[in-house]
Amino acid sequence: MKLLAPSILSADFSILGQQIKEVEEAGADIIHLDIMDGRYVPNITFGPPVVESIRKITDLPFDAHLMIVEPEKYITDFIKAGVNMISFHMDATIHAHRVVDMIKSNDVKAGVVLNPATPVKTLEEIIHYIDYVLIMSVNPGFGGQKFIPQTAEKVKKLKLLMEKANRTDILIEIDGGVNQDNINYLSMLGVNIFVAGNAVFKGNIKENVVNLKRGMLGC
Ligand code: DX5
Ligand code: ZN
Repeated sequence: MKLLAPSILSADFSILGQQIKEVEEAGADIIHLDIMDGRYVPNITFGPPVVESIRKITDLPFDAHLMIVEPEKYITDFIKAGVNMISFHMDATIHAHRVVDMIKSNDVKAGVVLNPATPVKTLEEIIHYIDYVLIMSVNPGFGGQKFIPQTAEKVKKLKLLMEKANRTDILIEIDGGVNQDNINYLSMLGVNIFVAGNAVFKGNIKENVVNLKRGMLGC
């Protein structure tokens, strides 16, 4: 499965609805929502009310990437606002397993996020319970950063762990600095969901989506 997930962090917020429609019409598969609290990461974005309002304009799945401390406090609000996937950083909570349970009990897909310095082996236990893993290929907090090449190695390590745990159904998502030059390589490594902010919203949105999808699908 190969899916393109534009991150609206790089969109023009004064015409957010219009830009979401534009990526949808161009062929985007998922809308990636970067939720930042100014504590887990040094930046603040938006919360459930914004999600609720954009929920009305598209049927595309919403993928909430929570870069917030104590994600358990806000999961119900994001689910009520209409998200379909929620990922969180394990070091942002004391009880990661409980957070996964909270997410999944509402029929929402649960994912955990690896920062560039977080080893794949930290997933050894939680891997039995999750639906996807988000590999950060930049340090979380800002759009438009440069891809950190070493993080791609984690895709290979994660695939080995998935096999060992008998969980080859888990989806692999990559986030940060994904562009037309590296998307094909990442796809060949086995990435399933490609988050792209600047590479989608800077320049011609339609052309960007078409080109990224072409690279992602290797055609
Ligand atoms: C960074 C976010 C990313 C980011 C992607 O903290 O999680 O989703 O917005 O943006 P680009 O593709 O521009 O690196
Ligand atoms: Zn993200």
